[in-house]
Amino acid sequence: MNSIKIAPSILSADFSKLGSEIKNLENAGADLIHIDVMDGHFVPNITIGPEVINKLRNYTTLPFDVHLMISPVDNFIKDFADAGADIITIHPEATADLKSSINKIKSFNKKIGVSLNPETPVDKVLPFLNIIDLVLVMSVNPGFGGQKFIKNTITKVKILRKTIDERKLKTQIEIDGGINFETAKIAKEAGVDILVSGTTIFKENQGNLKKNIQLLKIG
Ligand code: DX5
Ligand code: ZN
Repeated sequence: MNSIKIAPSILSADFSKLGSEIKNLENAGADLIHIDVMDGHFVPNITIGPEVINKLRNYTTLPFDVHLMISPVDNFIKDFADAGADIITIHPEATADLKSSINKIKSFNKKIGVSLNPETPVDKVLPFLNIIDLVLVMSVNPGFGGQKFIKNTITKVKILRKTIDERKLKTQIEIDGGINFETAKIAKEAGVDILVSGTTIFKENQGNLKKNIQLLKIG
C-alpha cells in the first residue's frame, strides 16, 4: 500500500488569510488541500464559494479536494470545476440522480468523490465504485470542525477496503472528521488512503503544521 496522504481541512484555518495558510500547508508537507463548502441548508453552517477557491488557486499547485456540502448540488458543479477544483466530492442526499451528477463532474475532467454521512449506508456507493475516484467516509456529522470521531463509521471503511481490493479497483478511501493522532491509527489500520484533518493540524503542538502532518502520517 502507498503511504497515507494528508489532506488538511482549511475549515480550521484563519479565514482572513487563507492564501498564506495554504502556502504554509504546502511547505509543511500536505498532499492535498481539503476545502469544505457549506451552504447553511444542507448543513447548518456557511463557508466559502467558487470565487474564493478561484483566488486561492494562485497560492499552491497542490490538488484542491473540494467537499461540497450544498444542496441541490448540480447547478454549482460547473462553477467549482471552473474555479480550479481537482476533486469534487458530493453527498448522495444532495442530488436527485447520483449517477448523472457523477457524470457531470467527469464531463469537466475532474476527479469525483462520493461522501457518506455517518448514517448513510455503504450500499449507497458500492454500485458506483468502478466509476468514481474516491469515497469520503464522514466520521462526524458534517457541518463543523472539532467534533468527536464516530467509531462505528470504521466498519464502512473496512467494507470499502475489502470490496475495492477484491474488485481490483483504484478507488481511494478518505476519512473526514475527528481525526487526531489516535483515531488516525484506527483509520489507517482499517485501510484508508487519505486522512482529512482540521483541528489536529492547526491546533495541536502550538499549531506546528509540519510536526502535526508528520505525526498523522507516521503515527
Ligand atoms: C466537517 C468537515 C471536515 C472538518 C474536519 O463537516 O467536512 O472537513 O473540517 O475537521 P476536524 O478535523 O476538526 O474534525
Ligand atoms: Zn470535509
